[in-house]
Amino acid sequence: MTAHFANETGAEDAPVSQTQTLELRVEAIRYAAETVREVTLVAPDGAELPGIEPGGHVDLHLPGDRIRSYSLTNGPGETTAYVVAVNRDAASTGGSAHICEDLRVGTRLRVSTAPNNFPLAEAAESLFFAGGIGITPVLSMIRHLEARGAAWRLIYAVRSRAQAAFLSELQALDAGRGRLELHEDDRKGAVLDLAQHLAEAPEGAHLYCCGPTPMIDAFESLCDGRPASHVHVERFAGLAVEGAETAFTVVLKRKGLEFEVPPGKTIIEVLQENGVKVAYSCQSGVCGTCETRVIEGTPDHRDNLLSERERERGQVMLICCSLAKSDRLVLDI
Ligand code: FES
Repeated sequence: MTAHFANETGAEDAPVSQTQTLELRVEAIRYAAETVREVTLVAPDGAELPGIEPGGHVDLHLPGDRIRSYSLTNGPGETTAYVVAVNRDAASTGGSAHICEDLRVGTRLRVSTAPNNFPLAEAAESLFFAGGIGITPVLSMIRHLEARGAAWRLIYAVRSRAQAAFLSELQALDAGRGRLELHEDDRKGAVLDLAQHLAEAPEGAHLYCCGPTPMIDAFESLCDGRPASHVHVERFAGLAVEGAETAFTVVLKRKGLEFEVPPGKTIIEVLQENGVKVAYSCQSGVCGTCETRVIEGTPDHRDNLLSERERERGQVMLICCSLAKSDRLVLDI
């Protein structure tokens, strides 16, 4: 994981790896499945867009100061548009509901590039497990693998066929070679048997999973004996972030500032209350935008992103959700 001290929220400090915020125009909105809309965003002057990688995502700035991350479905060579897919979440408090119901072609939106937390590895064999809207980054990855002539296989689990976004695109990529398996819960009368599929997965294959939290949790535990470098997940759902249980001190070394994080608060909340601008996006430990270098002290990692190795090293932390095990944390801010 690289350090991303981006400044899209206006932080003054020079970023190590800077995100970019662009004003883009909604060029098209397309029905992709019962609750899914595909949104195509372009630069008003038709310019190429930065940071398009398989598995990558962008952050959309929505009304009410909401920022939401969406994976790109772009294939190779598609550099003049960001194409995302948005599932209308029944419990939406404005993000997906706004995009699926109120967004109009021609609207201008602020869009930020973001670190790619789900990169595609070079591998002889890639096996993907996608659940529902988790198909979006996987579609991009498969498009790239197909262009390289590399082997892939996809197990795509949906509740019903009406909810299977991009099915015709995936069938075209498969071209009758049997690389795509669609699992429809309602037709099978059961959810996908991940254990059976993983038991049959070839030893050296790189395994990817993107979908609902229970699916990813099960996938990770079933992949326990495999090399960590071959197991890749992306979580859409963030954590329910809880504040500190006991107070601790956070020191911003470069700024020469020091604050107490009281019980019930997170580091980022305290910084915002005190007018310190730092980059953030999901605020729930899944996107990596708020990753910060730790100079001193022991973080209490609560995120869903850092690897076990990164946690053990304790050199970086996600300040939107992680807290402190020590009384004092000195951060590179
Ligand atoms: S803001 Fe997304 S991980 Fe912290």
